[in-house]
Amino acid sequence: MTLAIYPGSFDPITNGHTSIIESGLVAFDRLIVAVLHNPGKEPLFTVEERIAMIRETVVEIGADPARVEVDRFDGLLVDYCRRKEARVILRGLRAVADFEYELQMANMNRHLNEEIETVFLMANDAYFYVASNLVKEVTKLGGDVSKLVPVAVATKLRAKLGLSS
Ligand code: PNS
Repeated sequence: MTLAIYPGSFDPITNGHTSIIESGLVAFDRLIVAVLHNPGKEPLFTVEERIAMIRETVVEIGADPARVEVDRFDGLLVDYCRRKEARVILRGLRAVADFEYELQMANMNRHLNEEIETVFLMANDAYFYVASNLVKEVTKLGGDVSKLVPVAVATKLRAKLGLSS
């Protein structure tokens, strides 16, 4: 059984993330979507809200819930992987712009634990330009992102930003 950890901030989950979950389930037997709890950062959604939206999204895309766990983590990602006995970190790549940041993280994680491999999957090209930060900004400014985020997110995003639905 190959288990991969798919870590991220997921503030909130977008269709780009969802496409990586779907592709991850083709490549691996099980996935743990691991939401970073970083007290130093000020996310829009709490960890609990982010986890709830990911769980709803897993149902929405018809993924087998027995193969996708949603969890939170803090501290070092490699320590979390060790606790879960996972040897693969899954990350999504969109445009070239992601590459440097991802290369840096993958190399740092390899330095910290050389038994853990980072595997990259390409996000569905329909969502290459979708990022959580952009989705929040566009919603705040009145733009429609309903085709770029799961149904579970669209209304919560507007409510969170104090906009009428
Ligand atoms: O969705 P993001 O914000 O790009 O995800 C970044 C994340 C959560 C994968 C990364 O910040 C992380 O792994 N943080 C945990 C702390 C850690 O292990 N840092 C060292 C590796 S660079």
